[in-house]
Amino acid sequence: MPWLVTGGAGYIGGHVLLAMREAGLAAVVIDDLSTGDIGRLPPDTPIVVASVLDAEAMRGVLHDHSVDGVIHLAAKKSVEASVEDPLLYYRENLVGTLTVLSSMAQAGVRRLVLSSSAAVYGTPATDSVDEDAPTRPESPYGRTKLVSEWMVHDAARALGFSCLSLRYFNVTGCADPRLGDNEGSNLFPQVLRALVSGDRPVLFGDDYPTRDGSCLRDYIHVQDLAEAHVAAARLVTETRCDETVNIGCGTGHTVREVLAAMAETTGFDTTPRVLPRRPGDPAGVVATVERAERLLHWTARFGLDDMVSSAWSAMNHDSPANEELDGRALESGVERRAL
Ligand code: WQD
Repeated sequence: MPWLVTGGAGYIGGHVLLAMREAGLAAVVIDDLSTGDIGRLPPDTPIVVASVLDAEAMRGVLHDHSVDGVIHLAAKKSVEASVEDPLLYYRENLVGTLTVLSSMAQAGVRRLVLSSSAAVYGTPATDSVDEDAPTRPESPYGRTKLVSEWMVHDAARALGFSCLSLRYFNVTGCADPRLGDNEGSNLFPQVLRALVSGDRPVLFGDDYPTRDGSCLRDYIHVQDLAEAHVAAARLVTETRCDETVNIGCGTGHTVREVLAAMAETTGFDTTPRVLPRRPGDPAGVVATVERAERLLHWTARFGLDDMVSSAWSAMNHDSPANEELDGRALESGVERRAL
């Protein structure tokens, strides 16, 4: 029977559906298409266009498709937007997770993979964090992810759910140009959009206590992340579990190192304009991934260059023709090599 993927029309959802298909796992999607794109779905994947807050729609999709388990991705995910409108985030992300859990309990569906985030750690005491590190989220977004984990954990104990909460680190790249995250507000899409527009990228702060003064992050290829969801779905099916698991590469790259990799891949000059630090940015956050290796037999396969080249292909897929880009590169005084 299929797994229900909430938010399956999103950037990560589209990749999870691709990985599920390659692993022979059937899927059905519920997505309100507020930010998702139905074009990301494989052609024969059923979708119910509704919010996970719609208890009737949730009950219907679980019942009508005899769902085996739920991969719950649907959530608002902007840290900045959560600070501006926390009540929207508490409603969408917390009432959303509550509605998913209640509908599952009523339908007798007890297998769950939850999308959580490294944002639950806030500013860690050390750059490298394992799942037992203190959780001190610094934004309403991060707090909704931590409370969602608690809700899932309590449902596991009281209702016999088998579940895993996956703490995503910095997700980027793409497996197919049509599934890219070109509109995103994170580092990769921001910088690549700047290059395509002929602007200089921005570096928020160059005075951090890191090897080159810019922030250190654990970038994880979205295809690796998607495959971790398949491994997690299998584990909650084969065993009764209740765990949180870091999903990252286990190695960090600074913003300047990402910019250098982007210059190498795109042929553009990525020298940034340095702006003041962005509030809430920790100097370094890198995953310890021993638990993912032990429980999921999963490790990341793709490196930074794969993430940069695939993100650039996706940006080009939606961008002006190359000759126009060549023209812009020449104007900015940089000879752009043919890709
Ligand atoms: C990375 C670094 C910026 C843009 C995000 C989400 C969080 C979680 C992890 C999923 C920071 C710097 C950025 C730019 C820059 N994801 N930067 N110039 O903030 O580490 O965390 O991913 O749950 O929810 O917030 O990611 O990509 O925004 O920033 O210098 O134009 O890049 O200051 O140091 P972040 P990010």
